[in-house]
Amino acid sequence: MENEKKVLLSGIQPSGDLHLGNYLGAIRNWAQLSDQFDCYWFMADLHTITVRQVPAELRRRTLVQIATYIACGLDPDRNTIFVQSHVPAHAQLGWVLQCYTMFGELSRMTQFKDKSAKHADNINAGLFTYPSLMAADILLYQPDFVPVGADQKQHVEICRDIANRFNGVYGETFKIPEPYIPKAGARVMSLNQPGTKMSKSMPEGCVFLMEKPEDILRKFKRAVTDSDTVDPVRYDPENKPGVANLMQIYAAVTGRSYPQIEEEFSGQGYGAFKSAVGEAVVETLRPIREETERLLADKGYLETVYRAGAQRAEHIARRTLSKVYRKVGFLAP
Ligand code: TRP
Repeated sequence: MENEKKVLLSGIQPSGDLHLGNYLGAIRNWAQLSDQFDCYWFMADLHTITVRQVPAELRRRTLVQIATYIACGLDPDRNTIFVQSHVPAHAQLGWVLQCYTMFGELSRMTQFKDKSAKHADNINAGLFTYPSLMAADILLYQPDFVPVGADQKQHVEICRDIANRFNGVYGETFKIPEPYIPKAGARVMSLNQPGTKMSKSMPEGCVFLMEKPEDILRKFKRAVTDSDTVDPVRYDPENKPGVANLMQIYAAVTGRSYPQIEEEFSGQGYGAFKSAVGEAVVETLRPIREETERLLADKGYLETVYRAGAQRAEHIARRTLSKVYRKVGFLAP
């Protein structure tokens, strides 16, 4: 039965174009989660304005992101897909929870420290209280699990602390969520700096999901390897990080094992290997790009999806918000 499934929720900031690392590390594994869980996925647009955004770009990326998730297999009939700013309860509970979050706790958040160092000219209050809003995003839906990358674990922990604090004062109100660290997500590294994670901020080493095939092939041809010449395609992440990264990508998109890949390229140099990885990635991304483009051409359909999603989300979120308003002592409207 639908309502006996455990609930899972995650937010994704539409702050950059999605890339191969997002796909192989996360999105690709989400489609199957809806068999097991009642899933909520939202575009965390409220969070993006903690750093300056170009308005038209933010709007475009929000829509592209929705289309991409659907193209990657998230079925809108089996997942609740919505835009955070369409459900006012996020901002409303966000305010309440700011009053149950301590200055000291927020000061210890590593993401706040990193982002305020990076955007020293715009250390705004929203950047500081971001974890309270994220706690609201989560707690509104009473989820059992929150799938997040390692960089967001601290935010799920502070969410649990806030929820426990609130429950301690007012009695059982929020379910305490667990972070959900997916088992088999690939950690894709930059193609030209294999010591760092693939990231939109280093576009030359990053393959975007919507990128043209010829650009993808070019990036793979320029990928960093090493100067080995005899059977150089060997899985040795310590000594050959660039090659290991390419092998990991190739394994993820073809389903082949490392020994099979070593065998396939034995006696061949990096040129043939890099082209093969590039081609395989192009073929994996082609249907996703084409489907995303098809969906983007049908704005009416995308609107139906995110409106229906917001309506379903609103229904659940309002129940939690009303409960909270009552508990803290607000007069019923
Ligand atoms: N902070 C998350 C990130 O930057 C995005 C996010 C916002 C989120 N609200 C959330 C993730 C709620 C999970 C649950 O990646």
